[in-house]
Amino acid sequence: MGEKILVSGGAGYIGSHTVLQLLLGGYETVVIDNLDNSSVVAIDRVRFLAAQYAPNLSFHQVDLRDKPALEKLFASEKFDAVIHFAGLKAVGESVHKPLLYYDNNIIGTIYLLEVMAAHGCKKLVFSSSATVYGWPKEVPCTEDFPINALNPYGRTKLFIEEICRDVYQSDSEWKVILLRYFNPVGAHPSGDIGEDPHGTPNNLMPFVQQVAVGRRPALTVFGTDYNTVDGTGVRDYIHVVDLAEGHSAALRKLADPSIGCEVYNLGTGKGTSVLEMVAAFEKASGKKIPLVKAGRRAGDAEIVYASTDKAERELNWKAKYGIEEMCRDQWKWASKNPYGYGSPEPAT
Ligand code: NAD
Ligand code: WQD
Repeated sequence: MGEKILVSGGAGYIGSHTVLQLLLGGYETVVIDNLDNSSVVAIDRVRFLAAQYAPNLSFHQVDLRDKPALEKLFASEKFDAVIHFAGLKAVGESVHKPLLYYDNNIIGTIYLLEVMAAHGCKKLVFSSSATVYGWPKEVPCTEDFPINALNPYGRTKLFIEEICRDVYQSDSEWKVILLRYFNPVGAHPSGDIGEDPHGTPNNLMPFVQQVAVGRRPALTVFGTDYNTVDGTGVRDYIHVVDLAEGHSAALRKLADPSIGCEVYNLGTGKGTSVLEMVAAFEKASGKKIPLVKAGRRAGDAEIVYASTDKAERELNWKAKYGIEEMCRDQWKWASKNPYGYGSPEPAT
């Protein structure tokens, strides 16, 4: 039996893809998730895709802020490491409900770290975000850029990074890897697992996919006057399967005795505009995406993409897929599951 990994938020978009990858790689995985933004069907689908490895996955519906439940879990099982995805992630919502975000993301993380320390489990991989680069002065973003957040969600990531650095400073037995994801998109090539946000999607590709299947009439393009190839914002989109593989690479790195608290970008190093992404999706799906041009969205940066040198060098990891594969797999997921893991919304 391989190492046993606790995955918080493992029923969610990135978590479910990572859990599958871990199972196929021989790890035993224990998922905790409160299902606030996910469905237990994702766990069933991961089990199906994992085939003979499915018995190595167990699931507990637990909220991170339920410290006694965390205590009970750590008292009953020994974990080699934790991958911590659980958190709320909607930027706009965080502006309206900052305390909810600070409570859920920061208090939840503090409880997790406390319980881990109490049980001698001091290896952590944490989901940070390129959001900590704010509007970067230049691109590509390297890990030593100053960090800065433009909204409460981003501040939760920034604070948690700092908390992890302080925890490591106080006790060098900790080994922590902070992964700054750029823009995860796409789905498992089977089309059986993918992103299924509750409510109106905030991010570009979930919105595009819902337009393609007829759930929404048009995509609103936020900003057409940026200083970019076609005036629309540029981002570093990364296939979720590549991102999942980045977590396996991070777990391998935690075995390196020299590691303390390190940060790595997970991106492709390539920038793609909104209109380029829409064109790639139209090509992959054969669907026309009607567009409505609008002003800039508050808090959006013009161009953000990663320097991938450090992850390539130290994690021995590099993204394999381009936007064609991202759109192909996103469409496979959307066309097989137009309503995600749920059933069609009732007509209004
Ligand atoms: P997601 O919403 O699909 O997954 C997060 C999971 O955490 C959900 O299943 C949710 O139910 C669970 N959760 C939330 N609060 C919880 C709590 N208190 N206790 C237990 N479970 C809880 O989001 P995702 O896209 O898979 O993101 C995973 C992580 O990566 C998040 O921390 C997110 O902030 C970070 N991240 C995401 C992106 C992105 O664009 N998707 C980019 C950068 C960083
Ligand atoms: C991408 C581009 C939009 C929606 C966010 C978070 C970040 C990280 C990833 C978690 C931008 C444009 C979008 C739409 C549009 N998440 N767009 N119409 O803003 O780069 O990053 O998700 O950590 O923290 O801030 O991603 O997908 O929202 O936007 O025109 O309906 O698409 O303006 O240029 P973003 P996104």
